Amino acid sequence: MKPIKNKVVLIGAGMVGSSILNSILSLNLVAEIAIIDNNKNKAEGEALDASHTTSFSYNPNVRVRVGDYKDCADSQIIIISAGPSAKPGEKTDRLALAGKNIEVMKSVMTSICQYTKDAVIIVVTNPVDVLTYYAQNNFGYPKEKIIGTGTLLDTARFRRILAKKYLVDTKNVHGYILGEHGASAFAAWSLVSIAGVLVDNFDGVIAKDKSPLNREEILNEVKEVGNDILKLKGFTSAGISMSVASIVRAVLLNELSIMPVSITLNGEYGIEDVALSIPCVISDEGIQKKIEVPLSEDELKELHKSAENLKKILKKFEIC
Ligand code: 2OP
Repeated sequence: MKPIKNKVVLIGAGMVGSSILNSILSLNLVAEIAIIDNNKNKAEGEALDASHTTSFSYNPNVRVRVGDYKDCADSQIIIISAGPSAKPGEKTDRLALAGKNIEVMKSVMTSICQYTKDAVIIVVTNPVDVLTYYAQNNFGYPKEKIIGTGTLLDTARFRRILAKKYLVDTKNVHGYILGEHGASAFAAWSLVSIAGVLVDNFDGVIAKDKSPLNREEILNEVKEVGNDILKLKGFTSAGISMSVASIVRAVLLNELSIMPVSITLNGEYGIEDVALSIPCVISDEGIQKKIEVPLSEDELKELHKSAENLKKILKKFEIC
């Protein structure tokens, strides 16, 4: 069935799913949203609440409703945020969620595949790299049409933390966190820049009066801030929702935006049979191109470490 332009199916309407709903509504680009959740009342409540946004000027007359898997047949984008996420006080390593969420993913992907292999799928559920690999390699779905949010969120956090240190707009800080969305993520420092100035010159050029850049401290903050938010408010939602919304916009508008997202590598950097984040071009077809950005020797080692870390989990759950 031909996809209906700007139709989105959202699977999972928990804390993250409902926040994604608000973020994609605020894009003013979506015509129809079908919400699927095991908890029908929650899905109904979210749909009803969201439908009231249509009264306001400049908001499109989006049709938001409870849906079912049949809605995938003509959907342009499917967002998967189903499955439990880490709770405050629980073991916060995202990989600990693998056992439960592989089962969730199996059921969700099996249901989607009954109706479509055309929609672009955005995987949000954690551990996102493990689940992206599983979705891309076990259901005969075109790999490039499945995008894991990966380190897009870590990258947003990284840019914000550097922007705060150097007192500049976050959008003027460029660079990537790559690898696993989790403990083995690393910063590609050799590519980080502000106003075209490379990181080695930040202290001399961007700010002369600041304490020197401590790369390890910044990276630790990037990795720990998700846990901090979890402890403070019980879940994380705004950052991940905006990450999803930016992918949705790139797909709907065929923007060719470059984002670090999770995809199965196929020999890039000498790595294969594992999904992790490298910069990719996002088009209306999904991941149009992976970009093998030049990395320093140390960064390459970090990327390989991340791949090994993730492969252990794939082996443990026999999904590679
Ligand atoms: C985050 O980093 C939990 O993966 C989610 O906010």
